[in-house]
Amino acid sequence: MTRAPPSTSSRPPKGRGPAGRLASTARSASWQRLSEEIQACRRCPLGAVRIQAVVYRGSLRPKVVFVGEAPGAEEDRLGLPFVGRSGARLDAAIRELGFGDGSVGILNVLKCRPPANRFDRAAARTCRPFLDRQLAFLEPQVIVTLGAHALEALDPGAPRVMSAAGRPREGRRPPIFPLIHPAAAMRSRRWAERWTHDLAAFRRWWAERGTRTL
Ligand code: URA
Repeated sequence: MTRAPPSTSSRPPKGRGPAGRLASTARSASWQRLSEEIQACRRCPLGAVRIQAVVYRGSLRPKVVFVGEAPGAEEDRLGLPFVGRSGARLDAAIRELGFGDGSVGILNVLKCRPPANRFDRAAARTCRPFLDRQLAFLEPQVIVTLGAHALEALDPGAPRVMSAAGRPREGRRPPIFPLIHPAAAMRSRRWAERWTHDLAAFRRWWAERGTRTL
């Protein structure tokens, strides 16, 4: 895969020297504090019905962050995003794209499972600062939204997901690459084909993007 350009972010030094190690320890501690804050949150009614809040899965220095909608039953039980059937589909796609574990992160707009898996917009507004803080911390080079609610949350001006999916939204920093939700890809052959098609578009765009400057 084409190498992406180095980030020009304000990340702490990654070197192995004492300063790099200290910065890296402080960074992990700050992520840990944010994760604990999310796990303890009771700001909306979902806090009372969840088993646990679902924070994040993946690298703390990801190139790509995949943003889903909300935890389902398996995620609520295990405390990790995308560990059920749609997670298996997503993980397979990530492997096919050639990303290793160190390159990606996975999270959701909502941190708690909504009853009957019905996306809760009011809860999403309350939960929003957590999403923003996670993304500001992780500083991915691209955000891949999965499904309509993630796209609407992160790019409210975007067309509906079926028009937007498979095409980068490069006016954003970082750019957003919308995809349909992996659960949708399991619903019919037509949607599975759309998923495969849009992933191929993402792979091409990512490879080309490696030669440009963000
Ligand atoms: N669907 C999502 O959007 N997120 C998950 O974590 C699982 C299923």
